[in-house]
Amino acid sequence: MSQRVDLRFNDRPVRVPLGVTLFDAASWNGIAIDSTCGGHGTCKKCRIRFKADAPLPTSLDLRAYTAQEIKDGWRLACRTPATTDADIEVPPLTTRPKAATVGVGRQVILRPAVIKRYLELSEPTLTDQVTDLERVLAELADLNPAPDLAVLRTLGGTLRRADFKVTAVVADETLIAVEEGDTSGRVYGLAFDLGTTTVVAALLDLTTGTPVAVESMLNKQQPFGADVIARISATMLDPAAGDKLRQLAQDTLAELSHAVLKAGGVPPEEVYEVALAGNATMVHLVLGIDPEPLGVAPFIMAARLLPEVRAGDLGVPAHPQARAVVFPAFGAYVGGDITAGLLASGMDRDPRVRLFIDIGTNCEIVLGGRDWLLATAAPAGPAFEGASIRCGMRAADGAIEAVTITEDGELKLTVIGDTEPAGLCGSGLVDAVAALVEAGVIDSSGRFVRDADVAPGLAGRLTMIGKERVFVLHWSADRDPASSVYLSQRDIRELQFAKTAISTGWQILLEEAGLTTEDVKQVLLAGSFGSYLSAKSAIRIGLVPDVGPRRIVAAGNVAGEGAKMALLSVRDRAAALALLEEVRYVELSDRPDFNDRFIDQLGF
Ligand code: FES
Repeated sequence: MSQRVDLRFNDRPVRVPLGVTLFDAASWNGIAIDSTCGGHGTCKKCRIRFKADAPLPTSLDLRAYTAQEIKDGWRLACRTPATTDADIEVPPLTTRPKAATVGVGRQVILRPAVIKRYLELSEPTLTDQVTDLERVLAELADLNPAPDLAVLRTLGGTLRRADFKVTAVVADETLIAVEEGDTSGRVYGLAFDLGTTTVVAALLDLTTGTPVAVESMLNKQQPFGADVIARISATMLDPAAGDKLRQLAQDTLAELSHAVLKAGGVPPEEVYEVALAGNATMVHLVLGIDPEPLGVAPFIMAARLLPEVRAGDLGVPAHPQARAVVFPAFGAYVGGDITAGLLASGMDRDPRVRLFIDIGTNCEIVLGGRDWLLATAAPAGPAFEGASIRCGMRAADGAIEAVTITEDGELKLTVIGDTEPAGLCGSGLVDAVAALVEAGVIDSSGRFVRDADVAPGLAGRLTMIGKERVFVLHWSADRDPASSVYLSQRDIRELQFAKTAISTGWQILLEEAGLTTEDVKQVLLAGSFGSYLSAKSAIRIGLVPDVGPRRIVAAGNVAGEGAKMALLSVRDRAAALALLEEVRYVELSDRPDFNDRFIDQLGF
């Protein structure tokens, strides 16, 4: 079965991981669904309608809807998993929300840093000589904002053109704008997840907390290398590379901003705040800060907390006075994206012990809960992105994303886009190795067994390309292994090293905390790769602890969700800052026992 399903929400096509709730699927894609309980099944407001082939109603659906409504396809979005392709109607929001659902079921009480207030001021006279600024500030006494010189420069003209009917814009206790007329209903923010590979932008309506539009694209820095080390090295080799990388990151943010602003019909001047979550290298590069010290021991960041940054410093089109909240990093290799991810997944509030894993070339791992948090980073390498794999490719059309072997020994492949297989993406690689280990084609040391020892249905697929043993997943028309899609012995080694780097990381964190696998109540897999990974296969190869597949949860793009939370709530923004003090970083590279543990974990 495919790991993804194609949905249409109000005729907008989106592709989501199999099994996520339709509530999460919609909110990850910027489609607002009514809710006051945050997807916990208690408010019964998350109404959606299947235009055809509605799934069987749950007991909660039967309580929430009339028999006719059930027949018409109405279901509760937060109780309905995405199991097949579907065409869905989402009704418009009925109430102006006071809270928004963000991240992993987090309810955020709306309290953005940006506040707009419509003012009808009395006009000055010869006997009322109060200055323009004092006249405005008198109406904002409860907010007590500091004035900005840029506002003062144009204030006189604005007040008089608007007959003293204006809207004051206060952000973070500063009066950043006075606008003509009543614009209080139009307040927007842009939230970015600036990834090394993919960048995501969400345009948020800060008056309702609802996402207006979401877009993503590849980071334009790609030609400088796939991972952060390659990009840092580029700046060390060529003094001009830093500027180019800054420009490319800013161009990516600008292009995405224009796309979401266009989709939402919002002019840039109505964006009053920006939030950005990214790893430490991305944040250094986009702000034009020399990243070299991040790339060489002892791996030092320029700063954990940055000086004030404006949207313009990131190249983002926005109101000229718009500030940017840039998430602080714990360290050179546990960046602001992880701070944002922890915020969005509520790691700091949940009393349960949970394990948060963000799988990428650099894998960040956090263990803990409300009372303590331990973090580390493990260099997993590019195997999960398909980069070091012979037939590896990105998760695009033609990529094998799931592999199963039936009890009769028959190989079944699921291919993105239902086309001819062209390669293997990260989730397909994990699945292929897990299935072949299970079927006895790969032994516990990671070696292919002899062809004679495999099930009849799989025999003949184990062959040689040059001096290397390979297992052919999909034969080419000419049945030449070299032009087929295959898994090589070297690919298995790459995956073994990657999964072992990660499992050694969480094992060491468990040991530091004096806990065992049984104490872990949930594993959260962050990021897009984590969303498409088969929990069963991840357990089978030892990538994640065996807590049972149901306790392994795809958390989605939690970095981007954390950035949204920072825009919607000053309280949550402060909580993200507090995390810096709450997380203890455990360095793996200087542990004398690291190599022994690594070797212990290497097998399947
Ligand atoms: Fe409240 Fe679904 S979101 S019941």
